[in-house]
Amino acid sequence: MKILVTGGAGFIGSHTVVELQQAGYDVVVLDNLCNSSEKSLKRVEAITGKQVPFYRADILDRNALETIFSEEHIDAVIHFAGLKAVPESVKKPWEYYENNIAGTLTLVDVMRKHNVKNIIFSSSATVYGTPAFVPITEACPKGQCTNPYGWTKSMLEQILTDIQKADPEWNVILLRYFNPIGAHPSGTMGENPNGIPNNLMPYITQVAVGKLRELNVFGNDYDTPDGTGVRDYIHVVDLAQGHVKALKKIEEKAGLKIYNLGTGVGYSVLDIVKNFEEASGVKIPYVIRERRPGDIDTCYADASLAREELGWEAGRGIQEMCRDAWRWQKNNPNGYEDAADA
Ligand code: NAD
Ligand code: UFG
Repeated sequence: MKILVTGGAGFIGSHTVVELQQAGYDVVVLDNLCNSSEKSLKRVEAITGKQVPFYRADILDRNALETIFSEEHIDAVIHFAGLKAVPESVKKPWEYYENNIAGTLTLVDVMRKHNVKNIIFSSSATVYGTPAFVPITEACPKGQCTNPYGWTKSMLEQILTDIQKADPEWNVILLRYFNPIGAHPSGTMGENPNGIPNNLMPYITQVAVGKLRELNVFGNDYDTPDGTGVRDYIHVVDLAQGHVKALKKIEEKAGLKIYNLGTGVGYSVLDIVKNFEEASGVKIPYVIRERRPGDIDTCYADASLAREELGWEAGRGIQEMCRDAWRWQKNNPNGYEDAADA
């Protein structure tokens, strides 16, 4: 089977390409590199020993998509390509709706013209808004998103659901990721954010490596055991393996399916700081700041549906996530920028 991975040079995409190649799938990557480096794909090749065919292209570019679908015999698409920075989406809503929604509509249109009707879509726990209950099952109602990025995920879920309903030849799997962190255990691939990181783990690793002075902990008065926000952190390799399992489901003609991909365990910000310090041996200075607008107190998954229906479970614990994130950052303080292998 040949899989087109959109956004395959990015953080989750590149780790997924490794797992797909190791599972024996043929992979083609499409990415416009707006938030990634092609060097990540060189690292993939070094790990798997296989070439990664790469198209530098935009999902909004219909002609480029036509070329790819004409040249390659694609069986299924794993669709990671999208903009994902929450604060940026508040400042540039048009750009987010255009890139994520118009881009996906273009992709899906070219797919159906080429009779490729299998798609796995990167959704997010953000679609639950302030969750009606925790642990969150897939039956938990979707909520009000607090930013345009979240709305793009929520709307795209609806769009793909309606497309599958209208044409049951489609197999659509919506994967709702919780908080992906960690890195490949080789220490050669990991998260490579532009500028100052928005997310907790890359911020912590940049403090640890001396690029940032101290961590800002956004609020310690939440309704949680230590007052800081609780999230379900999942190792990116576990998440990547979830996509391989989802592909197997697609091969069984899944129809429409929705799965949470998380561990089912919640950790607070201060738990993460403590675990990171233990895993790395590096002290993380922090200061308590105001709450960050739009944050919720607690978010963690009930991931039992993915276990039952996909045979997938996240096996890597928080120490492993911290150790791997740290190995990547320590070996590559400037991400892929200084990489000499490409
Ligand atoms: P990432 O930014 O590392 O990867 C996304 C990739 O898509 C990048 O390589 C970028 O260059 C590419 N891209 C963006 N717009 C494109 C376009 N128009 N055409 C072609 N390529 C384009 O992000 P990631 O963390 O790997 O996330 C992958 C997907 O998972 C995204 O859709 C994201 O919204 C979703 N997601 C991420 C998280 C998270 O915390 N990382 C959580 C939930 C969902
Ligand atoms: N936090 C800090 N300091 C920081 C960064 C984060 O204290 O510098 C706290 C946040 O307040 C929150 C926790 O750490 O309590 C996690 O924050 P992240 O920004 O790492 O992650 P979020 O849960 O806010 O959101 C992430 C992605 C979203 C995705 C969501 C899915 O950014 O895109 O996970 O659950 F939708």
